[in-house]
Amino acid sequence: MILFKNAAYLGKTVDLLITENAEENTKMGFSFAEDDFHKHYQNYGSNYGKQGGRIVELKENITAPENCTVIDMAGKVLFPSLIDVHVHFRDPGMEWKEDINTGLEAALHGGYSHVFCMANTSPVNDNAGIVRYMLEKARNTHPHGPFLHPVAAATLGLKGEALTPLGEMAEAGCTVVSNDGVPLTSTEIVRRVMEYGSDLDMLFVDHCEDPFLARGAHMNEGKLSAKLGVKGQPDIGEALQVGRDIMLSEYLQIPVHICHVSCRKSLDLIRRAKERGVDVTAETCPHYLLLDENAIDNYNTNAKVNPPLRVWDDVLAMREGVKSGLIDCLITDHAPHSAQEKENPLDMVPNGISGLDTALTLLWKLVGEGVLTQEDIVRAYTVNPGKRFKVPYNSFAKGDVADFFFFDPSFEWVVNKENFHSKSANTPFLGQTLKGRVCTHYLGGKKVF
Ligand code: DOR
Ligand code: ZN
Repeated sequence: MILFKNAAYLGKTVDLLITENAEENTKMGFSFAEDDFHKHYQNYGSNYGKQGGRIVELKENITAPENCTVIDMAGKVLFPSLIDVHVHFRDPGMEWKEDINTGLEAALHGGYSHVFCMANTSPVNDNAGIVRYMLEKARNTHPHGPFLHPVAAATLGLKGEALTPLGEMAEAGCTVVSNDGVPLTSTEIVRRVMEYGSDLDMLFVDHCEDPFLARGAHMNEGKLSAKLGVKGQPDIGEALQVGRDIMLSEYLQIPVHICHVSCRKSLDLIRRAKERGVDVTAETCPHYLLLDENAIDNYNTNAKVNPPLRVWDDVLAMREGVKSGLIDCLITDHAPHSAQEKENPLDMVPNGISGLDTALTLLWKLVGEGVLTQEDIVRAYTVNPGKRFKVPYNSFAKGDVADFFFFDPSFEWVVNKENFHSKSANTPFLGQTLKGRVCTHYLGGKKVF
């Protein structure tokens, strides 16, 4: 067993005791939920499932049992590992931006235990062969986690026309379906994806954007887009499809999860839907909590992202949304692109922000400013995604998986390529000095870094 002493957690100083192996688990009487665990851990190394370390106790002043390693963690903040339900790893096909190995390295060092990888790879993840390729590569490069969950494309080639073979993709390991990256135009297709996915117990996760209103746009529509002479897309383009999805979800009685919400108008719709009891959940990213469209003034291509950064009133709404629980999940929408690709005129560069290396540090900044608490982060980045996406998560209850990390809040570092584990450092925070970084991570009770 290992006893970690004197870490900070939710404003208290605590000790954490964990088991490290099957023998200790048996001694503690921990059960092994075969179905639950097996589904997620079958592909991975021995530090999961039966063998994996589990939480024994988290409280103030634990006395070390016999034969126990004791590690002092004074000055560090304890977190349960994070679950990011929306990343892009570019593998297969665009490995110069990121590959499964570097993506998982960024996740590992960012504090993540599970990541869900969107299907806009090349070729698109629209068949079981690609799913198996992704899982095998993840297992080979990271046998001790973080776990990669390939998200099944909703339509062949993400073209929005024909449904993908979801049955075989579910069998290969997909639990989520999405057309993320390419918004769906046909309401009929959205309906069928929801129905087909629901039959297979797959959650439909939707990128909401009216492609007609967004055509040719490179930023948010408003005064700034007029000043810069760049075509913008209005926030109502997002809200329109959020409304569509909510109405379909309510009509069909099938859950829906809304991707990267960026504006107040979408939140208003989500609030009213939740009040009516619609089974809708939603996510947002650190950049929508910290930046508005002014980040793209001076044509800063690293701030070009889709959905675009909106206005400050939207930032305030998003913050409120996370605090109130209206936004269920925090995500990065980790979208790596190479420096060469971003070093072009604004209208020629791809959308996206590389997020896994900076997410927690940026959220911690919001904690420092009194906008969020550690509790908000734990709820939205571990507990809620764990529940909604049905992956084992650590709530520091007896018997939980020992997935956790320590964060050093005083560590200063500069956001640049050298300090990134991701292959790409396309971020509007490039060059900034930030405070705080993950310093040690345990998955299944095993120290992975
Ligand atoms: O900014 C974005 N980047 N938004 C998306 O929807 C896709 C993503 C990507 O794949 O680069
Ligand atoms: Zn995305």
